[in-house]
Amino acid sequence: MATTSPPPTAIDWASWLRRWDAQQQLHIPDREARFTAMVDALVAFVGTSPRLLDLGCGPGSLSARVLQRMPDAEIVAIDTDPVLLTIGRGALAGHERLHFVDADMRGDWTSQLPLEPPFDAAISTTALHWLGLPELLRLYGTLAQLLRPRGVLLDGDRLDFDHDQRTIAAVSREVQPEWPPTPEGAEDYDTWWSAAMSEPALADSAAERKRRHHDHPHDNDAQSYEFHRAALLAAGFAEVGTIWQRLANRVLLAVR
Ligand SMILES: C[S@@+](CC[C@H](N)C(=O)[O-])C[C@H]1O[C@@H](n2cnc3c(N)ncnc32)[C@H](O)[C@@H]1O
Repeated sequence: MATTSPPPTAIDWASWLRRWDAQQQLHIPDREARFTAMVDALVAFVGTSPRLLDLGCGPGSLSARVLQRMPDAEIVAIDTDPVLLTIGRGALAGHERLHFVDADMRGDWTSQLPLEPPFDAAISTTALHWLGLPELLRLYGTLAQLLRPRGVLLDGDRLDFDHDQRTIAAVSREVQPEWPPTPEGAEDYDTWWSAAMSEPALADSAAERKRRHHDHPHDNDAQSYEFHRAALLAAGFAEVGTIWQRLANRVLLAVR
């Protein structure tokens, strides 16, 4: 009698994306408010059908929120992590106007773009601190070329207080806000990653992730808001400001 193996279990990629979001929110409790501030600003600055770059998109959390609010947006979402890209491609497969690209912002990523520049905006959350100083400066120069005049960069990340705000910086580190409740069952970063790396459906991606062995610099010079502001103005952006802030967590907006 012929034996048949059981059908492969369908992977619930949306559930992996939800687990990622819960894990990130555990570490950045006002992440959702920051996303909302960014999408609000996008609507105001570039309208409801922009062409966007999502830099260091992970599994597409920010892109998903943009598309929820503006379904006519078209997004190129770039990341170099095969595990997160696999989850994003699975969870957000229904979005035809979202294009995930496996590319490294430290290299020649612009040649891999599936859409022609110029773009209306580049958006990013919790990602650009992965770049060292020379890489970040190069990226800002590249974005000044890829964005249209009056296009915008929106970056949600930890950007420290300026060199003459040491007291504010020190006291801010002691502030203990009343954060929104932690999502039920949220895993911390290491627990989430160890689960993802053991998921059989992610085995190929996990092996490739190990092969690439990409980590962020732990002595990053590019931390303060004033540094980013000066670098963006030098790269050719016309204006740079903070449009949302909770302690050192902020959204920087730069107008091309
Ligand atoms: C903490 S995750 C944030 C992901 C997503 N933006 C979010 O807010 O959930 C940082 C992301 O930046 C990506 N990243 C870091 N360095 C990168 C690089 N050089 N090129 C492309 N992506 C990079 C990582 O792979 C990771 O997905």
